[in-house]
Amino acid sequence: MAGKQADVRREMNALTEEIERHNYLYYVKDAPIVPDAEYDRLLRRLEALEAAHPDLAADDSPTRRVGARADEGFREVAHDIPMLSLANAFAEDEVAEFDERIRRRLECDTVDYVAEPKLDGLAVSLLYEGGRLVRGATRGDGRSGEDVTANVRVIRSVPLKLRGKAPKRLEVRGEVLMTRDGFARLNRQQDESGGKRYANPRNAAAGSLRQLDPAITASRPLEFFAYGTGVFEGGRWPSTHDGVLDMLGEFGLRTNPHRQVVSGLDGLLSAWSALDERRESLPYEIDGVVYKVNDLALQERLGFLSRAPRWALAHKFAAQEELTTVRAIEVQVGRTGAITPVARLEPVFVGGVTVSNATLHNLDEIRRLDVRVGDAVIVRRAGDVIPEVVSVLHERRPKKSVEWAFPGACPVCGSDVVFDEGGVIARCSGGLFCDAQVKETIKHFASRRAMDIEGLGSKLVEQLVDAALVKTVADIFSLDKEALVSLERMGDKSAENLLAGIDKARKTTLPRFLFALGIPQIGETTAGQLASYFGDLDRIMTATEEALVDVPDIGPIVAHNVMEFFAQDHNREVIDALVSKAGITWPAVERVAEDARLKGKTFVLTGSLSDMSRTEAREKLVALGAKVSSSVSGKTDFVVAGADPGSKLDKAERLGVTVIDETALRELLDASSAQ
Ligand code: IVH
Repeated sequence: MAGKQADVRREMNALTEEIERHNYLYYVKDAPIVPDAEYDRLLRRLEALEAAHPDLAADDSPTRRVGARADEGFREVAHDIPMLSLANAFAEDEVAEFDERIRRRLECDTVDYVAEPKLDGLAVSLLYEGGRLVRGATRGDGRSGEDVTANVRVIRSVPLKLRGKAPKRLEVRGEVLMTRDGFARLNRQQDESGGKRYANPRNAAAGSLRQLDPAITASRPLEFFAYGTGVFEGGRWPSTHDGVLDMLGEFGLRTNPHRQVVSGLDGLLSAWSALDERRESLPYEIDGVVYKVNDLALQERLGFLSRAPRWALAHKFAAQEELTTVRAIEVQVGRTGAITPVARLEPVFVGGVTVSNATLHNLDEIRRLDVRVGDAVIVRRAGDVIPEVVSVLHERRPKKSVEWAFPGACPVCGSDVVFDEGGVIARCSGGLFCDAQVKETIKHFASRRAMDIEGLGSKLVEQLVDAALVKTVADIFSLDKEALVSLERMGDKSAENLLAGIDKARKTTLPRFLFALGIPQIGETTAGQLASYFGDLDRIMTATEEALVDVPDIGPIVAHNVMEFFAQDHNREVIDALVSKAGITWPAVERVAEDARLKGKTFVLTGSLSDMSRTEAREKLVALGAKVSSSVSGKTDFVVAGADPGSKLDKAERLGVTVIDETALRELLDASSAQ
């Protein structure tokens, strides 16, 4: 028994030491080395041990602290009312327990809550006296933080003076954060200037706010959202948390627009799911939903535990970053021969799925990360984006590891690997001799947004190329049933279905056909521009570079690519086979008239349209001379918002871009084509 106690004590000491070290790296250095999920696990393990062995729990255990002490360089500020932390929940039953506990204590059936995004930044307190901002402070360890008044003053969403009739003293609490765009921009600048890269937007926000020179803070894209109050004197106090947020809004503070008042457990869980779905489309990162009892009198009755209020809970989303190990580093060959290094990983559950591969992008990235086989790495998977390795825990590197070398030959066809002038992008020089490139070209050709050949998926393309039944995209159209049924797992019925799918794809549109050819850098939009500018394929194929640069959106590099593509004999042969032998046809395209109504106008589509697909809408707009872009900027003329629009709508509203709905789009299209 004594031996077991000693083991427990040893584990607790080791956990404490490790957590303290991560606290220091996170709070003082703004440079954590492990993902939050790993940190949470350490803390939870220590909490569990302390609960099972209360006699061994230390008074100064990291489980009893909120944050970390202030760094040198900033004056210390004591918080009149401590800035507490939130209890975390990771699963629905923990939320059910939270709601049940509250109902039991309050002896009532249903409780109203405010559900609001858990913003992933850092907590800040802003003190207003007589309506003027007199002090800004970080949370620090909850009892005292750092005086960052000069720095918060440079954040544009922090009002220096409150609007309306301000109370005598008001302490506003909220989150300082950095948007995803701002974060990417900052890291790019840091790379260029040789500065340190930040691991994620939250560290970038913390690092930017805690600059000794406020001029540096001012150059960083920081934003502030208010989510509560501390000290409040001399004013009328609302009776609900929702009312408090409304009041803060009236004072000119920014509150988060995605909050919702909900009832009971069901309300909480559906607010959570709704925000989880919106998560990726928000311009900033959120890592969960905070639930707060709405009625302030009830909050008061519930009171506090040592570190957190009883009336609030942070219900976290699935972690987007996790720790795992690199088993191997291999390369993949893409459609244009670009060779991408990929890390084969010890499978890990992250972002809601099990991930066993992550992209390493290119040689530069491998050098920047300094990643090797055997390394412990942090992988990130957010939404539908490809998982990537974000950092390497170099201190955990196995002794015998060796630097990874880029292969000199294509792993698929053995041709030489060549690097572009910058030495960053590697390519297989095998061209259509390389099966990997052939396969990717065919997969792209058959894909939904290109020729849309139903039934011709990725696996089948690999089988067809491996069996030498298909060598070019034109061969798809001479496949017959006999050849198909010779393939493994291909029955009569599937072969017939595939042939029907191929037949159907013979009728297409010129933009789709051009996009399907896979000309380097020709996406759907540019394919549409080419089609409507020249009107037919022959004109495009014989266009000079000078003529091509006249097409909206096409610059000299793209023009050169297009010209080069059509100059290659093997490409001309394939196109000829497609058009004259395979029987691919498309309706005539009307050229954009010089005076087309929408000429020069830029549109962005967001949300889903009910009458037409986004691809159709794009084709129609482009045919009328408009440009359709994927992101909203100051140059956007119209944003078309369908159902469930994403963050593009928020951005359009922020930038004052005209937003139209589907009916207005329809009218615009009709009026413009009737001209
Ligand atoms: S309320 C007593 N609301 O989460 C309640 N906090 O773990 C204190 N946070 O330090 C916080 N979004 O940095 C609250 N909508 C929100 C929040 C939020 C993010 C952060 C905040 C705090 C931490 C608590």
